[in-house]
Amino acid sequence: MSVARLIERKEIVICAGAGGVGKTTTAAAIALGMAQRGLKVAVLTIDPARRLANSLGLPELGNEERQVEIDGSGELWAMMLDAKRTFDDLIEKHAPDERTRDAVLSNRIYQELSNAVAGSQEYMAMEKLYELQQEERYDLLVLDTPPSRNALDFLDAPERLSRFVDSRSLQLFLRPGRIGLKVFGRGTGMLFSVLKGVTGVDLLQDLSDFFASFGDMAEGFRDRAARTGELLADSGTTFLLVTSPRRAAIDEAIFFHRRLRERKLPFGGVVVNRMSTLAVHEDEVDVTELQALLGKRLGRKVASNLADYDAIATRDRENVDRLARDLDEGTPPILVPHLEDDVHDISGLLEMNEYLFAAEAVPAPG
Ligand SMILES: Nc1ncnc2c1ncn2[C@@H]1O[C@H](COP(=O)(O)OP(=O)(O)O)[C@@H](O)[C@H]1O
Ligand SMILES: [Mg+2]
Repeated sequence: MSVARLIERKEIVICAGAGGVGKTTTAAAIALGMAQRGLKVAVLTIDPARRLANSLGLPELGNEERQVEIDGSGELWAMMLDAKRTFDDLIEKHAPDERTRDAVLSNRIYQELSNAVAGSQEYMAMEKLYELQQEERYDLLVLDTPPSRNALDFLDAPERLSRFVDSRSLQLFLRPGRIGLKVFGRGTGMLFSVLKGVTGVDLLQDLSDFFASFGDMAEGFRDRAARTGELLADSGTTFLLVTSPRRAAIDEAIFFHRRLRERKLPFGGVVVNRMSTLAVHEDEVDVTELQALLGKRLGRKVASNLADYDAIATRDRENVDRLARDLDEGTPPILVPHLEDDVHDISGLLEMNEYLFAAEAVPAPG
């Protein structure tokens, strides 16, 4: 099975899964593979290993896409998502005028908030996705997902932002005319004025300023969060689960798949990355052959070593079987072996693509 079949005619591919399984690498590899097949592709990476970022030309680039040189007829563009920058851009978009924009961006409360809101990275990933989708400049968008502890945080992000905007405490601040001051009791007011005396920082002023300006934008934010949420369920979107063959990652993939079904979100398939090589190639260990080649003692040692690998391979295969049974989707998982080296450049991605795009020839460029 080739991943190209799983994502045929899709406009958005979201690579989701547990931390460290290879989401970022897989997203980059798929984007490269599809670009070689003639599409104009953008990959939105999050937190790529430094060497991979380098080889995609990402370090100098901030929050904008940048074209990567490839062999093939399509185009590959890559960007490294900067959550804070995306948040700032969003304020710029929703601010009714320049004064409000500057007031919010320079506001200390905003600066803390935009860095720290739980799930803001997840939300901003989707925000950027929505923005690029609206611009219609690409045939395919491949989204890497943030290294959350819980892969599901990602699915919840739009709703969480709406809930934050709608929350009672925020509404209290946002109610016209009240601008924060009254919601703090006298004691809190005292505390703030002591703080101001000591630090010279007027936090209360910052707070009320922030909520006063943010109030005008709340509606726009809520709206957009709803539309990004809808994008996840769109028929042009598909989720690819990425997992390792280890038990914990497989469990998380099974769980994630269930949640996708519950929410009627589109599932495309599973990539099991870093399989033991023996599990992928199904090689047989032949002791007699090894002993003939290496002599009796060394032959036996190598054979016993291989037997250990074989045990790991068997366990990997069993885990994959369990995954396939549980998903019950018809399409078998795509297996990618644990490669000799870390995947940190284009040639590493190409090596991965021999497995991701297996059983399908790459058309000659041009
Ligand atoms: N099939 C593979 N073989 C060898 N190394 C791999 C493979 N897939 C990923 N890696 C390496 O594993 C590390 C983690 O991969 P990454 O894609 O960053 O995971 P995630 O985004 O899920 O946290 C990276 O250093 C990457 O080069
Ligand atoms: Mg990653």
